Amino acid sequence: MNLFRLDASIRTEGSHSRQIADLVEHEWTAVHPESRIGHRHIGTEPLPSDVWASAAYAGFTPEEKRTQAQIDALGLAAALVDELVEADALLFAVPLYNFGVSQHFKTYVDLVTTDPRMAAGGSPALIGKPAVLVTVRGGAYGSGTPREGWDHATPWMRRILEDVWQLDVRTVEAEFTLVGVNPALDEFRDLAAQMQKDAEATARSHGRALASHSSIGAEVRDQGTR
Ligand SMILES: Cc1cc2nc3c(=O)[nH]c(=O)nc-3n(C[C@H](O)[C@H](O)[C@H](O)COP(=O)(O)O)c2cc1C
Repeated sequence: MNLFRLDASIRTEGSHSRQIADLVEHEWTAVHPESRIGHRHIGTEPLPSDVWASAAYAGFTPEEKRTQAQIDALGLAAALVDELVEADALLFAVPLYNFGVSQHFKTYVDLVTTDPRMAAGGSPALIGKPAVLVTVRGGAYGSGTPREGWDHATPWMRRILEDVWQLDVRTVEAEFTLVGVNPALDEFRDLAAQMQKDAEATARSHGRALASHSSIGAEVRDQGTR
């Protein structure tokens, strides 16, 4: 059993998304202690932002006319998709930045989508694969709050993972991670503590589901190859 984990936080120390994803990973490892866990840190080791254009245009260029940059870009996209295809379960940890999707995660998704196995509108190679999306936000965006509707990242990420890539996704959302950092939010300390507790409980529960769902999936695949 293999787990592939992608982290998009731009920091390592004090990262809430990493800490919550660690809980998911911990539950996974408890069920699959021998498993291999692949990591990619796109927030601290970013993919080059110009590679996507090369990969995208390579698709419209006859093979013999492709530039070295296009060939390399397609190679990188294929390597990213290999990581996803070879894993039995996927874990994505992506914070909210500037009310939108992390640029690193957008670059990652764009590049993955250039690979023929994951082309939009096709039949993605990941259909039904279990996944957990952990997303964290410094503020709060719930119904009736002043910033309701300002989180433009989570709906997009869910659209990609659930509908375009057709993964079987469970989502953990943690809000108010800037409480305790930004004094203007001090009045929300109790609420933030409760939200943190709830997010951790959800992460553990989703981690257990990820581990058991993957075992069932692998069993079904094994039977299919017998
Ligand atoms: C440059 C930057 C922009 C951010 N923009 C937002 C934002 O638009 N909305 C928000 O709620 N939080 C925002 N945050 C706060 C992060 O979402 C929050 O700190 C989160 O916990 C970061 O993830 P991490 O703890 O895993 O590093 C921003 C943080 C940084 C560093």
